[in-house]
Amino acid sequence: MAIVKATAGAIRVAAEHLREGRLVAFPTETVYGLGGDATNGKAVAAIFEAKGRPRFNPLIVHFADISGARMHAEFTPLGLRLAEAFWPGPLTLVLKRRAESDLCDLVSAGLETIAIRVPDHPIAQALLEAAVRPLAAPSANKSGRVSPTQANHVQMDLGDRVGLILDGGPTAHGLESTIIDATGEAPILLRTGAVPAETIEVVLGQTINRAVDAGDKPLSPGQLASHYAPEAKVRLGATDVQEGEALLAFGSNVPAAAGPMINLSATGDLIEAAANLFAALRTLDQSGTKRIAVMPIPEQGLGEGINDRLRRAATPR
Ligand code: TXA
Ligand code: MG
Repeated sequence: MAIVKATAGAIRVAAEHLREGRLVAFPTETVYGLGGDATNGKAVAAIFEAKGRPRFNPLIVHFADISGARMHAEFTPLGLRLAEAFWPGPLTLVLKRRAESDLCDLVSAGLETIAIRVPDHPIAQALLEAAVRPLAAPSANKSGRVSPTQANHVQMDLGDRVGLILDGGPTAHGLESTIIDATGEAPILLRTGAVPAETIEVVLGQTINRAVDAGDKPLSPGQLASHYAPEAKVRLGATDVQEGEALLAFGSNVPAAAGPMINLSATGDLIEAAANLFAALRTLDQSGTKRIAVMPIPEQGLGEGINDRLRRAATPR
C-alpha cells in the first residue's frame, strides 16, 4: 500500500507491476482507475476481488491509441466517427469484440461486446505505453461507492488491496466517462458522464437514444439503481436544510445551514460542480453526518451526469 508521485521512474515500476499481473491505481482525466492487464485473467479477477464487484459487471479496457483498440474491437462507422471526434478523451465505446482479441473473457463478463476508451491523461497514457498492453480499469473504489477523484480516496477504499497508487493530483472532470453503445447505426447512451450527451449529438448531427434504466437487468450494469453511494442518506432537490442535515449546495442562493456545508460551485458552473462532486460527498460523509440535503442542479449539459450520480446516491439501499 503506497501512494507515490507519478514520476517517470514510478511509472516504469508501475508498468513492471502490471506486466507481472499485479494491480496499479492510476489517475485518468475522469476518475482514478484500478488497473490490471486486460489480457491476464488472474489480474482481472484480482480487480473484481479488490472492488468486491459483482461478477456480471464488465470492465472498461483502456488503450494508448485507436490502433491498439482496433485490434480488439470491430469498429462500426459510428464507432470510428465517435473515436475520431472524442479520443483521447472521456468517452467509452461499446463495440463487438473481435474473434482474434486476446482480452480475457472475464473482462467483458462473458458479453460479446467490450467497453473501450483511450484516456486523455499524461500519466494514464505513459502507463499504457510503458505497460505495452491494454489495461482493464474500473473506478478505483469499493463496488457501489463513490468514485475516487484523488489518490487518497483510493487509499481509503482500497489501500490494503492495491500495491501501488500513482498520484497525479485531483482529476479534471470528476465524473466517469460517458458510455455509448456504438455497435449499430444509432448511438445508444448507456451512461451519462464527462462528455455531455448534447455535445455528442452536435458532433453526430443526430439524437442519441437514452437507454432505459432496466432495473435488475441493466444494459450497462453500472446503471444499477443504487450506486455511487455515500454512507449518509441523500435528499435531493433541497431548498432548505432540515435539523441534522449537511448541505451540498450549488450556486449563489444558498439556504442557511447549521451543519457542514460544501458548495459544488458558488458561481453555478457545472464543470466545476462535476469536478467537485465525489470529493464533496466523501468529505460530508467523513463529517459524520447521517443525512445530506442536495440543492437542485440544472438538468442540462454536465448536469445530466451529475444528477444521474446524485439520484443513484439517493436510492435506498
Ligand atoms: O471514467 C471512467 O470510465 C473510469 C476510468 C477509470 O476510466 N472507469 C470506469 O469504469 O468508470 P467502471 O468499471 O467503474 O465502469 C464501467 C462501466 C460499467 O457501468 C459497466 O457496466 C459498463 O462500463 N460496461 C462495461 N462493459 C460493457 C459492455 N460490454 N456493455 C455495456 N456496458 C459495459
Ligand atoms: Mg465505477
